[in-house]
Amino acid sequence: MINVFLTGASGNVGGAIIRTIQTTEGFKLAGGWCRETGEDLGTLAGIEPLGIKAASGLGEGLSASKPDVVIDFSATPLLEGNMKAYLNAGLNAVIGTTGLTDEQLEPFKKEVAAKGLRWAVIPNYGLGITLVSEFIKSARKYYPFVTITDQHPNEMCNAPSGTAGALAQAASGAPLGEVTSRETYPGVLGGKIHGVQVFSQRLPWPGPYSGHEITLARKDEIIRVEVQDYTSDIYMDGVFLTAGKIAGFPAGSFLRSLSEVM
Ligand SMILES: NC(=O)c1ccc[n+]([C@@H]2O[C@H](COP(=O)([O-])OP(=O)(O)OC[C@H]3O[C@@H](n4cnc5c(N)ncnc54)[C@H](O)[C@@H]3O)[C@@H](O)[C@H]2O)c1
Repeated sequence: MINVFLTGASGNVGGAIIRTIQTTEGFKLAGGWCRETGEDLGTLAGIEPLGIKAASGLGEGLSASKPDVVIDFSATPLLEGNMKAYLNAGLNAVIGTTGLTDEQLEPFKKEVAAKGLRWAVIPNYGLGITLVSEFIKSARKYYPFVTITDQHPNEMCNAPSGTAGALAQAASGAPLGEVTSRETYPGVLGGKIHGVQVFSQRLPWPGPYSGHEITLARKDEIIRVEVQDYTSDIYMDGVFLTAGKIAGFPAGSFLRSLSEVM
């Protein structure tokens, strides 16, 4: 049995995780933390009360529930503090919260190695995006031009999405075609991540909608791939696959893509 502590227990993804744990053999909810301290985690997830209350603080929750693994789908501003708490508690972690750069994650990667823990810090646990990323990696050597557009609700706290950043990384493995246009208004050519043009659309789509469009091009040919995700349930296969396998990875593992788990 894998005992799970869930950070961000009342969120879109957190709720889906609580509901999925109830129907997934081999997993048990040990505790959780979110803004709604003291409230029942089942009630917060829209199911029957589970008799487990949201902890009053992350540190208190971790030491009281003694989990095997922590799953974190919370919020960017909390993440560095949360990760320090997981290191202090010596826990393996499956982290979905996005918004930190590779540079910000680097010290944590070193600490995970030093402590012999196993962490997955994966910007997208969806099967669709993971499979499309693999396609982009193999297609890019033939298609020098690429742009990525991410679509999220306007209240999303970070732009671009962590997924757009990861797609840009996946697309950065071959020389890029030259765009010679000069911007007459700043920003119209998008931001550059690893040299790849990335555009973030923030509009009042009903949350938790998430869309990613990848356009690849070579002379006379354009490929456009779009992944649209309508609920947080689509992450559950990837999250539970990772949470189930994480303890079996070598000590010091710091996984950055669901492909490394699949
Ligand atoms: N890696 C992936 O596959 C993936 C998929 C979807 C979302 N995400 C990311 O996961 C994170 C959560 O997404 P969501 O849609 O569930 O968000 P959400 O806003 O619905 O939920 C956020 C959760 O964090 C908690 N929280 C926020 N501020 C807090 C505070 N100050 N103290 C305690 N708890 C606090 C909230 O109570 C809530 O439980 C975001 O960073 C999002 O970008 C990643």
